[in-house]
Amino acid sequence: MEKKVEILPNLEALIERGLEIVLQKIQTSIEKHNRFTIALAGGSTPKPLYEAISQQNLPWEKIHVFWGDERYVAPDHPDSNQRMARLAWLNKVPIPAENIHPMPTNSGDPAIDAAKHEAELQEFFKVPVAEVPKFDLILLGIGDDAHTASLFPHTPALSVRDRLVTVGSKDGQPRITFSVPLINQADCVMFLVAGAGKISALEQIFAEKADSQTYPARLIQPSGELWWLLDESAGEKLKSEY
Ligand code: 6PG
Repeated sequence: MEKKVEILPNLEALIERGLEIVLQKIQTSIEKHNRFTIALAGGSTPKPLYEAISQQNLPWEKIHVFWGDERYVAPDHPDSNQRMARLAWLNKVPIPAENIHPMPTNSGDPAIDAAKHEAELQEFFKVPVAEVPKFDLILLGIGDDAHTASLFPHTPALSVRDRLVTVGSKDGQPRITFSVPLINQADCVMFLVAGAGKISALEQIFAEKADSQTYPARLIQPSGELWWLLDESAGEKLKSEY
């Protein structure tokens, strides 16, 4: 499906628009199959969105929260994506503990934890092993290097097609990450991108031709909806087109 690109005047407007889309997806997913499954992005951009979601009055028992990637640290580590989302959102709402599905990072071996989380996804979505589970919504960001989730340039994780969850690597630091096939299976993928630091990455991601190994976010081509919400700073060079 053709990507939908919106350039918002500032971060606040971007978050507001992101919330609007998230709430629409929650409503349509629950109408469609009586639950909503979302995978969260880490980093700093989505934090205000998680804070905004925490203020909503929602059917929390029908909402299931996962993460698209995780740093290989303990859940209470300052770098933990799980910790960020719990503090910004999940600790503030009456969502059942069993509806929160963090990526494990405690076996001492990222490959073992990736396999464990893959098994948890298969168990939760109850799809045959060969089938790829379909999230209702996957939130993503991009780095200045055009990575997304923990799919970093020129790393083996970019080429994984036979797993749902794999091991990423950022400058040698292990990460757990959704694979490209799992992300592309989502009913809806929404990128939230803010700040001038992302201008050149976006130019390469949106370019007619560029190397996906160098700019991994180019690999995200879901069969479902693809949203790019940019603030004016990040979308500086794309304003004439969108
Ligand atoms: C992570 C994220 C990562 C993030 C980008 C953008 O674990 O860091 O999942 O992919 O989305 O690095 O991060 P910022 O929003 O902080 O710029």
